[in-house]
Amino acid sequence: MLTIRKLRVRYGRSMNALHGVDLDVPDDGVLAVLGANGAGKSTLLRAISGTLRLHRGLVTAGTIQYGETRLDRLDAAQIVRHGVVGVPEGRQIFARMTVAENLRAGGIAVKSAADRAAARRRVDALFPLLTERANQRAGLLSGGEQQMLAIGRALMAGPKLLLLDEPSLGLAPKLVERIGEAIREIHAQGTAVVLVEQNAAMALEVADQAVVLAVGSVALSGAAADVADGVHQHYLGAPAQEHKSLARWS
Ligand SMILES: Nc1ncnc2c1ncn2[C@@H]1O[C@H](COP(=O)(O)OP(=O)(O)OP(=O)(O)O)[C@@H](O)[C@H]1O
Ligand SMILES: [Mg+2]
Repeated sequence: MLTIRKLRVRYGRSMNALHGVDLDVPDDGVLAVLGANGAGKSTLLRAISGTLRLHRGLVTAGTIQYGETRLDRLDAAQIVRHGVVGVPEGRQIFARMTVAENLRAGGIAVKSAADRAAARRRVDALFPLLTERANQRAGLLSGGEQQMLAIGRALMAGPKLLLLDEPSLGLAPKLVERIGEAIREIHAQGTAVVLVEQNAAMALEVADQAVVLAVGSVALSGAAADVADGVHQHYLGAPAQEHKSLARWS
């Protein structure tokens, strides 16, 4: 579905953040992208979503192929119209607008009213809490609820490929689980996902495939279960007995 080859990204004049990254998102799959702070995870999502320029970044080499389309030649709005929609770091909802207004804003580029209504029903079913809070100002939601709203808003655009940047960041374990379940459900409904996470345990439970980035390069990639073992051996010198044990280093 998405094929990235030899991708290089630079910020400003000299900060090389990605040095020739190769990765594939299988059709309708979930790809987890793991790695330490500064590894280049957000940079990768910005490159896919065409938002690097907002951060004074630039793709300097390589290709991002999405079906027949070269995403690296399009701008952010065109990429959304192709069905690739991102939720950036730090759940950037419109705090002064209501929950319902935030969701409406997510669907603003969708031309068909029937498609918009269907997307809204999908969000309502996935996050009933957002329906209950429809008229509340989004800034008054808890962190977990704001994350749900940020994901819901992205779903309103009708994505075929959803890019999530650390959706579990700062959330209590129960909410992390809830977000993990929501991602699984979104995937089951036929939307592919690139899931950037520091919470390796959650991400590897949800994903089919995984890559580990280290200082701008792919250090490890493969089936999620194999990457879980690799990560565990690398950090703790023993294969993972179960994914939950990864939580200790994540
Ligand atoms: N706007 C920017 N200008 C210059 N350098 C940047 C910019 N954004 C990121 N970088 C640098 O690029 C590298 C990759 O950053 P990136 O934000 O992609 O990492 P990350 O894996 O998402 O980290 P984190 O887990 O902390 O979110 C880092 O060295 C970072 O300092
Ligand atoms: Mg990041």
